[in-house]
Amino acid sequence: MTWAVSHRRRMAAEPEPTVPESDFAAADFAADVQAGLSGQPKTLPSKYFYDAAGSALFEQICELPEYYPTRTELALLQSQAEVIAGTIGPDAELIEFGAGALRKVRLLLDALQSPRAYLPIDISGAHLAAQAETLARDYPDLAIMPIAADYTAALSMPPAAAGSRRRVGFFPGSTIGNFTPPEALGFLCHVAQILKGGNPAGAPPAGLLIGVDLVKAPEILHAAYNDAAGVTAAFNRNLLRRINDELGGDFDLDRFAHYAFYQPRLQRIEMHLVSLAAQTVRIGGERYGFAEGESIHTENSYKYTPDGFRRLARQAGFQPTALWCDPQKLFSLHWLTLPA
Ligand code: AVJ
Repeated sequence: MTWAVSHRRRMAAEPEPTVPESDFAAADFAADVQAGLSGQPKTLPSKYFYDAAGSALFEQICELPEYYPTRTELALLQSQAEVIAGTIGPDAELIEFGAGALRKVRLLLDALQSPRAYLPIDISGAHLAAQAETLARDYPDLAIMPIAADYTAALSMPPAAAGSRRRVGFFPGSTIGNFTPPEALGFLCHVAQILKGGNPAGAPPAGLLIGVDLVKAPEILHAAYNDAAGVTAAFNRNLLRRINDELGGDFDLDRFAHYAFYQPRLQRIEMHLVSLAAQTVRIGGERYGFAEGESIHTENSYKYTPDGFRRLARQAGFQPTALWCDPQKLFSLHWLTLPA
């Protein structure tokens, strides 16, 4: 995921939320694929995993015995809901970066004292509208304001006016792990800008509740991205199927192997698709040559220690205030506040 690049690209195209998502999306996808496969080493941005088929596969990943992050974060939110809500404080205008399955935000909304509004930001307008509608049925008194936009880009969302509602960001799932540390820093600075200013006098500070996967024994990490049922492999290869369908590619999915490993020096899982033969792939009018054994790097999933992530948060102007972990130290939830 390249935060800085999409940031610049979106800036020129404002006002963004009113522009049809599909026009940008198709052009961006084609351009990003072309750039990624022309480079050395070859790469593809992980954000393109999540078309309808990819999102369904990701939902399946979340249920796998080896994939601990989702269930651990859910259990943490569930068991600590009262403490977390008490720490966040009352009257929050909740902004979620990427509207996933709503399961996590429900746990938070149920525990928070008098939440004022819920603003989910998601690139998929259709998904967002459906989610908002479902939620509105169960929370009739909550103001729900979906924002169809790329939350990694410059949102036309002004800082809250001084003395207005307090903004609280929510970014679960360790999606922050898909950014390199410099990109993650850029993203956190961007989030701080959005949350800033929403501090009415005497109210608790604005802040961000963020889920972050932890550094741990490599075999646990390895298993989580190399599940026995092969769902993660299918999720990885689905990116090639998507290129075939949407961009007129002719990838032979059987000639690319899923390869994921933990790289301790960089504290990240790397996912690759490795070419099992010397081959040429056509996409639209372009041809891309692959040597036998050449890889396409499709994803990074960074892991942090509690202190490592706090350092990053401080660099972005946040004050790390509270941290919740499961007893096995698999996953963390940070509450980062913003000084008024
Ligand atoms: C949704 C980005 C947190 O990195 O663990 C799951 C995506 N990739 N299995 C992760 C993913 C392979 C996931 N995130």
